[in-house]
Amino acid sequence: MIGADEAADVLIDFDWWQQTGQAERDARFDALRRENPRAFVSLGGRDRKGFWALTRHADVLEVSRRPEDFASGEGTQIFDQPRALREYRGSIIDMDNPEHSRVRKIVSRGFTNKSLESIRGLVESTTNEILDAMPAAGECDFVDNFAVLLPLRIISAMLGIPREHEADILMATNTILGASDSEYIPDQSGAGIADAVTQASERLIELLQNLSEERIANPRDDVISMLVAAKEGDNLTPQEMAKFFILMVGAGNETTRNALTHGVYALSRHPAQRDAWLADYRASAPTAIEEILRWASPVIHMRRTVTHDGVQLGDQVFSQGEKVVLWYTSANRDDAVFEDPHVFDITRNPNPHLAFGAPGPHFCLGAHLARLELNIAFEALYSRFPDLEAVGEPTLLRSNFVNGIKHLNVRYTPR
Ligand code: HEM
Repeated sequence: MIGADEAADVLIDFDWWQQTGQAERDARFDALRRENPRAFVSLGGRDRKGFWALTRHADVLEVSRRPEDFASGEGTQIFDQPRALREYRGSIIDMDNPEHSRVRKIVSRGFTNKSLESIRGLVESTTNEILDAMPAAGECDFVDNFAVLLPLRIISAMLGIPREHEADILMATNTILGASDSEYIPDQSGAGIADAVTQASERLIELLQNLSEERIANPRDDVISMLVAAKEGDNLTPQEMAKFFILMVGAGNETTRNALTHGVYALSRHPAQRDAWLADYRASAPTAIEEILRWASPVIHMRRTVTHDGVQLGDQVFSQGEKVVLWYTSANRDDAVFEDPHVFDITRNPNPHLAFGAPGPHFCLGAHLARLELNIAFEALYSRFPDLEAVGEPTLLRSNFVNGIKHLNVRYTPR
C-alpha cells in the first residue's frame, strides 16, 4: 500500500506527467484531496526542504489571497532556481510588495480593457491569416499549424516584436518552459538544462535591448515603446524590463496555445458538446470558454513560500521558509466546488475555476487577452472547418508545470 505522503511523490515525476492519461491523473488527485489534501512531498537530496502539496480548491483560494503569509518572492517554481537563472526569470510573478504593485501598475497599462478592445481586429485578422495557410491536404499537426502561431503573433505584435523573430522566440520560450523535455533540451543533466535556459534567455534579452534602443529612437504604438517612454520614477529598470519581456513572451504564448489545443481535443472527444456549442456559438461561448480553461488547466501549479512561523491554514501550522504548492489542476476538479467535475460540460455555470490563478495580487495579467483570443479562435476555426477533429492521441510535454500538448494531429475538410 502507498503511504499517505508517498501518494503525492508522483507530482514531481516528470515521466508520470507525460505518460499518464487524464483518468489516472484525476484518480490520483481525487485520492489526495479526499485523504491527504496537504500532503508533504520530500525532495530528498535535490532540495531537502520538500513542499506541501495543496490540492483542494479552498486552500488554493485562501493561500492566493494571503500574500503577506504566503509569498511569491522566493520563487514560484517548486525547485529553487540557480542564481544564474533567477537573473532572467521572475519579473512580477516572482515579486512581493512593494516591488510587485509598483511594477504591476506600470506594466498593466498595456493590458487595460481599452487597449484590448483595440486589438480585437488584430486577433481576428491574424486568426484568418493562419487559417488561410492551414494545409490544403486537410490533415496536419494542430499545434504547429495553428495553436503555436496565434498567441505568439498576438503577443509579439502587442510588444512590438517584428515577425522575422518569430522562430527564434518560439525556440527560446519552448526551451525555457519545456526545459524538462528532451525534445527541447536533449541534454537533460542539471548543467545541460541550466546552459540551454541561460542561452535562450540571453537571446531574448539581446532582442529586447535592440528593440528598446530602436523604440527610444522611433516610438510606436506598442508596449515596448510605452515602457521605454515612461517618465523617470514611473518606469522599469533595464533589468526589470528584460525580465518582464521574458515573462510576457513565455506567458503570452505557451499557455493560450495549450488551452486551444486541449479545447480542440476535448471537443473532438465530446462531439455532442461540440455540436451543442456550434448550434449557437455566441450564446454558448462565455460558458464554453471557461469550461475549456477549467478542463485544460494550462498552468498546473504555482508555488508560494511561508513568510513567518505560525502561519495557519485550517488546522495546519507552517514554519517560515516552508514551500506550499498550489495545484490548480486539482482545485479545478474538486467535487466540493464542481458538480461532476470529471464531466466536460460547456454549459457549466457557475464555473469558479482557478486556471488563471485565484483572485489575489498575482491573478493572471493576460486573462482578458487569453479569453479574447480563445473566443475569436474557436469561432473562426469551427466556422471554417466545422468537421475539424483530433486524430489519435496528443503527445504531451514532459512537465509538471505547463500542461502542454506538443503535437496533436487533426483532420478537416479543406475550404
Ligand atoms: C489560457 C491562458 C493563460 C493561463 C491559463 C494563465 C495562467 C496564469 C497563472 C496560473 C498565473 C499565476 C497566478 C498566481 O500566481 O496567482 C498567471 C500569471 C501571469 N500571467 Fe497568465 N495565463 C494565461 C495567459 C496569459 C497571457 C496571454 C499573458 C500575457 C499577456 C499572461 C501573463 C501573465 C503575467 C504577466 C502573470 C503574472 C502576474 C503577476 O504576478 O502579477 N498570461 N497566469
